[in-house]
Amino acid sequence: MKTLVVYSSRTGNTKKVALAVAEALPECELVAVEEAPTDVKEYGLVAVGYWVDRGMPDGKTRDWLAGVKNARLAFFGTLGAWPDSEHAKECMVCGEKLALEPSRGNVTLGSWLCQGKVDPKLLEVMEKMAPGAHPMTPERKARIEEAAKHPDDDDCRGAQEFIRRMLERV
Ligand SMILES: Cc1cc2nc3c(=O)[nH]c(=O)nc-3n(C[C@H](O)[C@H](O)[C@H](O)COP(=O)(O)O)c2cc1C
Repeated sequence: MKTLVVYSSRTGNTKKVALAVAEALPECELVAVEEAPTDVKEYGLVAVGYWVDRGMPDGKTRDWLAGVKNARLAFFGTLGAWPDSEHAKECMVCGEKLALEPSRGNVTLGSWLCQGKVDPKLLEVMEKMAPGAHPMTPERKARIEEAAKHPDDDDCRGAQEFIRRMLERV
């Protein structure tokens, strides 16, 4: 059974995780979302890697997913927030909902997120657009500093284990 791994990545974090996921799968094709087919009927599992953009999967992933039908999907991705935060949970729910109109026949098997370093330019832009709106509290500083170390080898292993678990559900 073949797996299609589709990823979207602006600064490379999600691509790194997608490469690790693809490495762990015996029969797999890895494609960037810009090249990804929407006809996925030949794949037993479609693993979708996105980066979180303002609380939801990034726009390229959303656009591509809108055309996907009759797929068994597993979502993985990266974000700046803590992976066990409410924010991360909401992002995963949002991703899963994107695929789930009953008429499209998709089945979502699960979602998994890890941290990914945040582009420093984004932090500058946020501060310029809304000065003081996101103060650099000790909690925020710690979160950004931790994100800067990810995705790391443990994250890549975590993503590989997640996908193996998802394959068992197919
Ligand atoms: C425009 C923009 C919006 C973002 N929005 C969020 C967000 O809502 N929540 C979050 O936790 N991280 C957010 N991030 C951080 C990214 O999701 C994170 O750095 C991710 O690992 C980037 O992945 P990539 O390197 O594959 O592009 C945002 C980053 C950018 C550039």
